[in-house]
Amino acid sequence: MLTRIECSTHEEVYRVSDRDSGLEGLIAIHSTQAGPAAGGLRMRVYDGFDAALADVLALSRGMTYKNAAAGLPLGGGKAVILGDPATEKTDAKLRAMGRAVAALDGRYWTAEDMGMSPDDMKVLAGEADFVAGLADGPFASGDPSPITAQGVFNALKIGAARQFGSADLAAKRVAVQGLGHVGWYLCERLAAAGAELIVADTVAARVTEAQARFGAEVAAPEAIHRAEADVFAPCAIGGILNSASVPELRAAMVCGAANNQLADDAAADALHARGILYLPDYVANGGGIINAASEILRIGNRADFVTERLAQLEHTMRGILDAAARRDTSPAHVADATVEQGMALRRAG
Ligand code: NAI
Repeated sequence: MLTRIECSTHEEVYRVSDRDSGLEGLIAIHSTQAGPAAGGLRMRVYDGFDAALADVLALSRGMTYKNAAAGLPLGGGKAVILGDPATEKTDAKLRAMGRAVAALDGRYWTAEDMGMSPDDMKVLAGEADFVAGLADGPFASGDPSPITAQGVFNALKIGAARQFGSADLAAKRVAVQGLGHVGWYLCERLAAAGAELIVADTVAARVTEAQARFGAEVAAPEAIHRAEADVFAPCAIGGILNSASVPELRAAMVCGAANNQLADDAAADALHARGILYLPDYVANGGGIINAASEILRIGNRADFVTERLAQLEHTMRGILDAAARRDTSPAHVADATVEQGMALRRAG
């Protein structure tokens, strides 16, 4: 069921196939240096196996950085299932993925990501102990999305204070790409803060709901990044900040939940050159893994743990933005360098 794929940049990478259920997936463990690798399970349609492999490699590496930035004693890992979660997700596939997670004996902990729900995590947990994001149980942390959205909202205010001179988001126009779990909760917080919303989703019903609920303006999914807005908040797919999209942005700031928003380093430099403040994604969206970590680490008082860690994340974000401003460089580079320094120190110590 697990076939190892040799990969020099990651500790362990597996193809996960199960003939009975039709499961095709991947698990990548980037690093267990800081602790067991932790990162969500994503289900989506990919442009072939190689695209899924590239995604799981990049996402699991991103988790190492995210967990380090959040100060968690966890390494980085990720899993993906190939297929449309709306039509191809079955309990049999989820159980098969659960058995694959169990076979890794705690070196990888999974949780919810795109295309997954707490109910799906429950199915996986029937096969493996190493599942977080459960709705019930002794240390259950539930859906991480509200906490992720809270972290993004906090980051957005930090960025607004720098870029617009005030953390007050009233009347600020925010273009939200993706009205899924996190995007929706983020819209709720933004609307409560008085922000004006422009929204896009590939699912028309979500957009209609957002129009009704928040009085949001609507943009086409392929045009949301160039909406007339103060802030662009990517909350859907990765790679959205690239050589084609960055020159078209009209927002002065990018801050969202999506993982791996930058297609490459050049995109970070291009944003910086245009004076657009980029809030590093894996710092902005660390709330979800902080919430899941309370379950993995079996923390008794989850609310206090999450509050403290979110505050620490805000402190980290401020430090990154300060250093980036001093060095006249992208916050993305400062975030990477900060995490890499920490990892090197741990290796040396
Ligand atoms: P989700 O699957 O609930 O929502 C994604 C939404 O984006 C869906 O409504 C989908 O229809 C929409 N979408 C997909 N492609 C689109 C496109 N091209 N344009 C506009 N909309 C599009 O996923 P979730 O959980 O809200 O996650 C969103 C992003 O945040 C992902 O990149 C995920 O990896 C990241 N993230 C999520 C965390 C969580 O706690 N759920 C934690 C940290 C990161």
